[in-house]
Amino acid sequence: MSEAGIDRIGFATTSLFLDMRDLAESRGVDPEKYTVGIGQLEQSVAPSSQDCVTLAAAAAKDALEGEDLEKIDMVLLGTESGVDASRAAAVYVKQLLGLPDRVRCLELKQACFGETAALAWAMDYVSRRPGRKVLAIGSDVARYGLNTPGEATQGAGAVALLCSSDPKILKIEDDSRFLTVLASDFWRPTYSNCAIARGHYSTEVYLECFSRLWKQYKDETGRSASDFDAFLFHLPFSKMGLKALREVLKEADPERAKVFQDRFEASSAYGRRVGNIYSGSLYLSLLSLLESSLLEEGSRIALFSYGSGAEAEIFSATLREGYSSMLSPLRHLAAINGRRKVEVAEYEHLFSDFPPANPQDYSCDERYFAGPFRLTGIRECQRQYEAEG
Ligand code: CAA
Repeated sequence: MSEAGIDRIGFATTSLFLDMRDLAESRGVDPEKYTVGIGQLEQSVAPSSQDCVTLAAAAAKDALEGEDLEKIDMVLLGTESGVDASRAAAVYVKQLLGLPDRVRCLELKQACFGETAALAWAMDYVSRRPGRKVLAIGSDVARYGLNTPGEATQGAGAVALLCSSDPKILKIEDDSRFLTVLASDFWRPTYSNCAIARGHYSTEVYLECFSRLWKQYKDETGRSASDFDAFLFHLPFSKMGLKALREVLKEADPERAKVFQDRFEASSAYGRRVGNIYSGSLYLSLLSLLESSLLEEGSRIALFSYGSGAEAEIFSATLREGYSSMLSPLRHLAAINGRRKVEVAEYEHLFSDFPPANPQDYSCDERYFAGPFRLTGIRECQRQYEAEG
């Protein structure tokens, strides 16, 4: 029986944010539509010097503080916003982290589902190699476009999971149930740096996938809502997860339903301010809940992962003894609280300053360099990354 799971959780976001009330005013929308109806308060804004590579490397650095890099065998990076049609973004991440060449580096793609696939691969690997570790990272800059319905659900950030066969935070149970359906709810053609989203339809597919999988999970495992202490969801925006949670609340007694609701609130606290980080979004919910200190050791959590297109999975995890000593709530809150607020005009400028999709050289704006790693520009069709200092 595998004991594999998550040893450390690292998080990174950008140094800038947009207030949803400012965006609402600029778009002629009632602010409560964004803050209550959609459930988002802020979104991290990415200058062009921050992309899925720099954010992934920064989150991994956060997870690796004090760790022995020699124990890492793989860097698996789930992303929707990959920077090259061929080379895995994880190769750049490995280089920025100074990991040895013997490390295997791959990118996994399926909309917002990539980090869950990375985690599953990591679990299989570390179970067979006790003592060895794998980084499973989800990193994205979520772009729907200026003046689009999806604009209020953008964001940027990464979550890195350091996985091992003797995890200190969370044991991942071997009870995954998953499904794939061909759905045109959200996709991004290679010529575009913004997603095409059928927002209401994507909500329908998400909820339908949750319903199907939750029923299958209960039928095949014999478990029910009362076997869990919390439910976590992929959160493209906080209202989305709440809609799925409502299905579970119908099955819980009032006392437990209240507990589930309170814990859902805690799980969405970081995401309401960072926005959708696509691949890492479910794991940002996990971090947000764990760092709220509401859960006791031994608690069992259900996790629902979803990637448009569409792939979905339900699995469970159990909190290890002493897990809270492995978390860094103050550091992560400081990363969110320390961002500088940008006005809508500056956000629109940054959104439009995107590396060109043609062979011309490009320089990122140095005034926005922040964080431990950055893209400085593109020279002869090659992205140029550097570490701070
Ligand atoms: N006060 C309070 N609430 C208000 C309000 C007001 N003044 N005005 C409207 N609302 C409420 C509405 O009633 C609605 O609530 P319910 O959904 O509970 O009914 C909510 O605010 C949103 O209103 P609309 O549906 O009218 O908003 P919209 O048409 O602008 O679209 C959206 C909202 C569909 C979420 C849109 O932002 C969008 O397309 N987002 C991107 C798509 C997305 O995130 N899909 C989710 C899964 S896909 C994913 O995660 C991507 C991936 O795999 C990579």
